[in-house]
This record gives sequence, structure tokens and C-alpha cells, in this order.
Amino acid sequence: MDWENYFIKQIKDLDPYKQGLQKKDVRKIAKSFRLHKLSSNESPYGPFPSAQLAISAGLSNLSEYCDGGFTKLKDAISKRYNVDKKNISCSNGSVELIYFIAQVSLKKGDEVITCWPSFVTYETVVKLAKAKFTKIPLDINGKFNLKKIAKSISSKTKMIFLCNPNNPSGTVITKKEFEKFYKSVPKDILILIDEAYIEFADPDSTFDSLKYFDNKSNIAILRTFSKMYGLAGLRCGYCFAPEELIKAIDKVRQPFNVNSLAQKAACASIKDTHALNNRIKKFRQEKEYLLFELDNLAVKLAIKYDCLVSELKAGIAPFTFYYYDTQANFIFICLSDFQNVNKKLLEKGVICRLVPGGIRITIGSTVANKAVIKALTEILI
Ligand SMILES: Cc1ncc(COP(=O)(O)O)c(C=O)c1O
Repeated sequence: MDWENYFIKQIKDLDPYKQGLQKKDVRKIAKSFRLHKLSSNESPYGPFPSAQLAISAGLSNLSEYCDGGFTKLKDAISKRYNVDKKNISCSNGSVELIYFIAQVSLKKGDEVITCWPSFVTYETVVKLAKAKFTKIPLDINGKFNLKKIAKSISSKTKMIFLCNPNNPSGTVITKKEFEKFYKSVPKDILILIDEAYIEFADPDSTFDSLKYFDNKSNIAILRTFSKMYGLAGLRCGYCFAPEELIKAIDKVRQPFNVNSLAQKAACASIKDTHALNNRIKKFRQEKEYLLFELDNLAVKLAIKYDCLVSELKAGIAPFTFYYYDTQANFIFICLSDFQNVNKKLLEKGVICRLVPGGIRITIGSTVANKAVIKALTEILI
């Protein structure tokens, strides 16, 4: 078989998705017995107890196919967010919806715009469709540069990805920024808002996408149960989109793309606002602790390098150290010698994600967050 010429041409250009490091990958190099996996923005708390009960109850029904139309889950999402069921679809992780929407919308010659770095799957689906992928750099604060996106819209532009909060910078788009941008985007361009981390964001820091969404709007919103709800391993995402787009997705998705346990767990999770609110509170405490300690670390670094903290941030000191203003469950720390720092973190059992210019650390449990600060202090000071 001549595999070189067998596949569609785009395959040569694509790389497989690289998952964050797993504990098993690090075991060999870590000198510490205890490992903290902070590389994939997972929840340290697992599924809500109500979701765990729903999963246990669902085990006895696994010989039956699941509900291919996710009726109960759509119903629960519809009630929770007051959106008509005809505007909701569900998927095997929200990443699947990114594939579906690209598959039904994009063709050779179309253009898709986003800011970069952002979630790598956007590039995969656009390349697969032979469309043009225009990547505008994030601004100096790691934020989506909406002005530049608006300026680069052309007659070929078909779709715009907004990742809010953005992965890997954690930054958000404000209400004012979005409103101005939204008015400037022609109504035949789909704005795909990826809100995988929206439950972590302070509602005052960003725009409420659902306020701009209705059946006639050029907006689709992606959400997931993988992050705040701690169900990454079960795979369940959902979207709000105009009915015509939902109908198109229904034509390409597998008949049973969300398994029965995922549907049951997601359904219990979306109803459990009490558990959600508790989790948000806990998360905020952990985030505050980490940011406080990172600021302390910056002061210690400034003393070590005999410079001001502002000079560390501006990159004009012998060492660079700053982090973006995050509204997600991770922090992107930009720092000198980040590859070496990441290696030393691994040796100390702290598994982060290496990103160009720095490291992305998931906000984890109290124990893990303390381990991060201890390890960073030992390495840097
Ligand atoms: C921005 C963003 N969107 C979507 C996803 C996909 O999440 P899932 O497929 O688990 O719902 C991720 C996963 O890390 C992400 O970071």
C-alpha cells in the first residue's frame, strides 16, 4: 500500500493532539514520590456526589443503547439556562462539537480567524477543511485582540473563534470589548464562543454570551462538563446554537455520540447548583492563595535580582517573571528559562504544561497548590 499518496493531502500537515503529561510519563524522572498533575486543567475534586450517584445507578443499564437525542440532558440544560431545546446539542466532549461545526460549515477557500495562542483543535479542524486559518497574536496582556480580528475580516471570512476565558492565557473579553466587536462583525460570519472555562470566571469580568444569543443570531456557544464539573474522563460537552446549525450537526454526528453514563452524570451535575456554588467558592480560595504566593515570589525575585517587580514583568530585569490576569482554572506564568524550570518542576513531582514563553499551571487542590509554590520557590530563589 502506498500510504504516502493514500490519504487526503491535509493529513500530512496535521499533528496528533498532544495530551498534557500524565503521571506515568513523569514517574521515571520525578525524584518526589508524590506527583501533582496540573497539566490538563482538570478538577482536583472529581464529579459532584450527585453525579457519582447517577453514574452508579446507570451501571445496570449499560446493555441498552443510550438516548441518541439526549432528551433529559437537553431538557435540564434548557431549564438551567432558559434556552429552547431546539437550540441545544450535546457531544462527546465539547471538542467534538468543534469538529462537527467545522465539518458542516467550512470548505476550501473559506477563512477562519482567531487569536493565538489558543486551543490547538481550532487549527486542526480548519486545516482539515482546507480553509485558511488566520492567527492574530494575543495582545501584550495575553488578551484576545478583537480590534485586530475585526480589521482582518475579509469577504472570505466564515467563522471567528473566541476562546473565553482563553486557553492558555486565562484572560477574558470584557462586556464593552465584546459589544463593540459584535456590532462590527457581519451577520453572515459565525462567532463561535468557546466557554470551556466560563464557570470559573467572575461574572463581572466578562460578557454574558447568552444575552446576545437567540435563534437568529450569528453566535454559537460551546460549554463542557470536563472542567468545573470534574467529568473530563466521561466526555460530555454541549452547545447553544441557531436551530439550523443544530440540525446540520445532527446530520453528521454519530447516532449515540454521548454515552449513557455521561448523559446521566451531566444531567445530575447541571441541576446541582448547590454543589456548583460550593465548588466555585473553594476554587476562588485556592486561586487567591496561589496568586498571593506568586506575588510574594515576584517580590523575592526582585530582591534576588536587585530590580523592581515592574521590571521583572516588563522583561527589562535580568529575569522575567509575570502571569496573565486569569479567569480560568489555570495560570500562565511567563518566565525566563521556562523549559529548565519546567524540567525541575517535573523532578519535584509538579507536572505543568509547557507553552511557548512559559508554563501553564492548573489551579489544583490545597496540597497541590502548596507543592507548586514550594517547588517554584526552591527552583527560582
Ligand atoms: C478551550 C478549550 N475548549 C475545549 C476543550 C475541550 O474540552 P472537552 O472536549 O473535554 O469538553 C478544551 C480542553 O482542554 C479547552 O481547553
